[in-house]
Amino acid sequence: MCGIVGYIGSQDAQEILLKGLEKLEYRGYDSAGIALAHDNGITISKEKGRIADLRKIVDAPGLATVGIGHTRWATHGAPSRLNAHPHQSSSGRFTIVHNGVIENEAELKRDYLSKVALQSDTDTEAIVQLVERFVNEGNSTEEAFRLTLQLLHGSYALALLDAADTETIYVAKNKSPLLVGLGKDGNVIASDAAAMLHMTDRFLEIMDEEMVIVKKDKVTIQKRDGSEVKRAEFIVELNENELDKGTYPHYMLKEIDEQPLVVRKMMEAYLNEDGKLSIDDQIIQAMNETDRIYIIACGTSYHAGLVGKQLIEKLAHVPTEVHIASEFSYNMPLLSKKPFFIFISQSGETADSRAVLVKVKALEFPTLTITNVPHSTLSREADNTLLLHAGPEIAVASTKAYTAQVTVLSILANMIAKDKGIENLSYELAIAASTMEVLCNEKKKIEQLTQQFLTASRNAFFIGRSIDYYVALEGALKLKEISYIQAEGFPGGELKHGPIALIETGTPVIALTTQANVNASIRSNIKEVEARGANTCIISMEGLEEKGDKFVIPAVQELLTPLVSVIPLQLLAYYAALQRGCDIDKPRNLAKSVTVE
Ligand code: G6P
Repeated sequence: MCGIVGYIGSQDAQEILLKGLEKLEYRGYDSAGIALAHDNGITISKEKGRIADLRKIVDAPGLATVGIGHTRWATHGAPSRLNAHPHQSSSGRFTIVHNGVIENEAELKRDYLSKVALQSDTDTEAIVQLVERFVNEGNSTEEAFRLTLQLLHGSYALALLDAADTETIYVAKNKSPLLVGLGKDGNVIASDAAAMLHMTDRFLEIMDEEMVIVKKDKVTIQKRDGSEVKRAEFIVELNENELDKGTYPHYMLKEIDEQPLVVRKMMEAYLNEDGKLSIDDQIIQAMNETDRIYIIACGTSYHAGLVGKQLIEKLAHVPTEVHIASEFSYNMPLLSKKPFFIFISQSGETADSRAVLVKVKALEFPTLTITNVPHSTLSREADNTLLLHAGPEIAVASTKAYTAQVTVLSILANMIAKDKGIENLSYELAIAASTMEVLCNEKKKIEQLTQQFLTASRNAFFIGRSIDYYVALEGALKLKEISYIQAEGFPGGELKHGPIALIETGTPVIALTTQANVNASIRSNIKEVEARGANTCIISMEGLEEKGDKFVIPAVQELLTPLVSVIPLQLLAYYAALQRGCDIDKPRNLAKSVTVE
């Protein structure tokens, strides 16, 4: 989703910004632009499409050492050159980039800007026009920016340039992610650290409602009332090479292949001095005191949460509910007396999840974030964090973060379960990691199955029971996200209550069976759809296999099956998208980091 970058220093801002925007591409976007400050004003270049398209049209008159840039994921107004950022005020003096949504845009335009001829359909333009209005009324730029911020309702990460003073970038943040990076001969701003690692690894966190004055050699953070805030910097330990896809054709394939390694890395990270998998006492104590766990997440993380519920309830016997963040936020269920909240988020920035975190924090309930990104908003704001150690996940479709989430949830569930848990979890996870490796080497076979079942299909169903149902949901999500085949996951038993009406001759049904207790019943469901012409692809677990199954997964501990059964489904989605010529790492309309509600 939208990303912003900025640079002020003595180097070539154009290249720094374009490189930064390329690093933000993974977040998802539909247009991009940069503004560069020169002695004779500000030059804007923007284009619908990719950064590569923007590169072709950037035409700066000489070296600029100050600038701001933006990737846009349309919210207000269609993806177009006109709506792409940066946006300028009517006189051209002020230029802005914005990530977020201004909820009172209509009121602001009506009450303050009725006489201004607006150029775009965006909410962002209102911000830059307001700054100009307040400056025209006699305020300094800093004061006008502050007055403007006081009027905004909603989410924003903003960077503003003033053509009359090109030695300052005015920055502000509320709800949307934003960091300021401290370089050797200049400073940067970015929506995430990865965008500016080529410039620095030293960053400052910016909190909601703060405003920052960024100069070449000075960064001043202020509260809304103008008072100054001192903040210590932190170092981002991220290797720029980890952001590279090496010899892989797509990040998604690389990330699928990294999964066994990620499980092993996590085992290392969560091993205590006694060689046992363990989690911080403080977290376990808080969880032991709860009467109900609430897991909040979106998308793939939600599916990992469903597996987590199964693990926690089966092993630790603590009642656990899993909620889609955007639903929970506006329709909070009746809570138990002592709830404990777990937020699962690869990015740690998802606005829907954060909205819930803000609400439950206000109620003073204990919170834990499970995330792949240290220092992310959800990590900073929750009481505790468990990291995924999966390395940067760049493909929009999440793969290794999912298996990392399931891994950490299994360790967590086992810790709360005490002696009722999985007996030798390290051993069982090690078996799962080796099995994942075996499955990652079965690409040819999965590619053939994809051709047989999915490539030419317009729809597909994924079915399973119990924990397999949760994996079926994830398999369907992967397929629809990147191949655009309409795919749905159903519990096997529910088919006859509706979805079976959609089965016709040749409809692909991918059926998972890894659980002994539901093997017979899912096989009956498979017979039911076959009787109606479905083209079934059965993926079973060793020990439960039958003649005719298309793929047999080597056996792993029965609660850890999602770690392995998801891999053939990820690969099915990958090859379906490949065979259909889709943009695998950047699927249409989707964003990696969804920073608006
Ligand atoms: C977006 C991504 C999904 C992801 C979801 C939740 O929709 O495209 O891949 O699962 O957000 O993201 P999070 O970072 O909170 O796990």
